[in-house]
Amino acid sequence: MKKRVLSGIRATGRLHLGNYLGAVKGMLALQGDPLYETFYMVADLHATTTPYDPKTIVGSARHVFIDYLSAGLDPHKSTIFIQSHVPEHTELAFLFSTVVTVARMQHLPTFKEKVKQYPEHVTMALLNYPVLMASDILVYKAGLVPVGIDQEPHLEVAREIARRMNQDFGTDFPEPQRFKTEGEYVPSLTGEGKMSKSVEGSYINLTDTMEEIKSKLAKVPTDEGKGSSVPKEGGIASLLAFIQLFEGKDKRSEYEKQYVSSGIRYQQLKEELAEAIFEELEPIQERRVELENDPGKVDEIIRNGAARARKAAQETLQEVKRAMGLL
Ligand code: TRP
Repeated sequence: MKKRVLSGIRATGRLHLGNYLGAVKGMLALQGDPLYETFYMVADLHATTTPYDPKTIVGSARHVFIDYLSAGLDPHKSTIFIQSHVPEHTELAFLFSTVVTVARMQHLPTFKEKVKQYPEHVTMALLNYPVLMASDILVYKAGLVPVGIDQEPHLEVAREIARRMNQDFGTDFPEPQRFKTEGEYVPSLTGEGKMSKSVEGSYINLTDTMEEIKSKLAKVPTDEGKGSSVPKEGGIASLLAFIQLFEGKDKRSEYEKQYVSSGIRYQQLKEELAEAIFEELEPIQERRVELENDPGKVDEIIRNGAARARKAAQETLQEVKRAMGLL
C-alpha cells in the first residue's frame, strides 16, 4: 500500500516565500513520487482560532487553494481540498480530545505565543489547535507531513495522540514524521526571526511583482559589506540564506569570500537576488492568472477534492468510533 502524506497551510491571506519553500516545495516533491498518496488541504478552520474576518475567510481559503494549484499541486496527482468541507476532521478531533490533557496543550510554545499576541482571544479552539491538526493528519493515517520546522511541536502532539489511541483503543495510526525541505527555515527580510505573515516587512508574497520584490529587498538592513567574518544573524545572514535557496550554495560561498576580501556590493547582490526570486515566481503568477479566469474549473477541483477526501476520512472515523465503543 502507498504511504500517505498530508499537509496544510492556514488560510490567512496569501502565501509567502516561507510557506512556499517550507511547505509547498515539499508537497510538490512528494506528489510526484509513486510511493506516496498525497492529501493537501487549506486549513480554514485553523484560521478561525485567532481573530479573523467572517466576510473574507472564504476568499482567503480560495486564494490559498489557487496558490496551491498555481505552484504546481495537481488534482490528478493529489487530493486537494478545503478543511471545513470535510467535517470528519472536526468529529475526529473531538474524539482525540478525550486522550489529551489541558495541561499538555497549555505548555505548547505555539499556544503561549498566541496567548501573548491575542490575550483577549484565548479560546477553546486555540487550545485545541494541535488536536485538530493531529486529526487532519491521522484521519488519513498519514505518516509523512511536509511542513516547516516551526510545526515540529504540533507533530509531536500528533505522535502522542497516535500512540495513546493505539494503546487505549487498538487503532493502527502511524506516528507522523516531518518531511524536511531545504527551505524548512526561511528567515525574515527584517533580519530578525522567521518570515511571517504577521510581521510587516518580513515577507515576499508569491504574487509580488519584480518591482515589489526589489523594493522589499532594498529595505533589508546591511552593513558596509566587508569585515573579518561573515555575520551569522541579521539582514546579511537572511540575504545569504536567500541566495543559497534561489541561486545555489556556490553563489553563497562566492559572496562569503567577497565579504572577507574585496567586499560585497549589496545593490548588485539584491538586484541579482530579486531576479532569481522573480524567475521562480513568474510561471506561478502566470498560472494564477489562467485559473482566476476560469472560476468554474477551480470550483470543480474544490468540489472533487472534498468528495475524495471525505471518502478516505469516513473510513478512519468509522474505525475509530467502533474502536471507542460508539458503534
Ligand atoms: N499549523 C499549520 C501551519 O500553521 C497548518 C496546518 C493545519 C497543518 N493542519 C495541518 C500542517 C496538518 C500540516 C498538517 O502552517
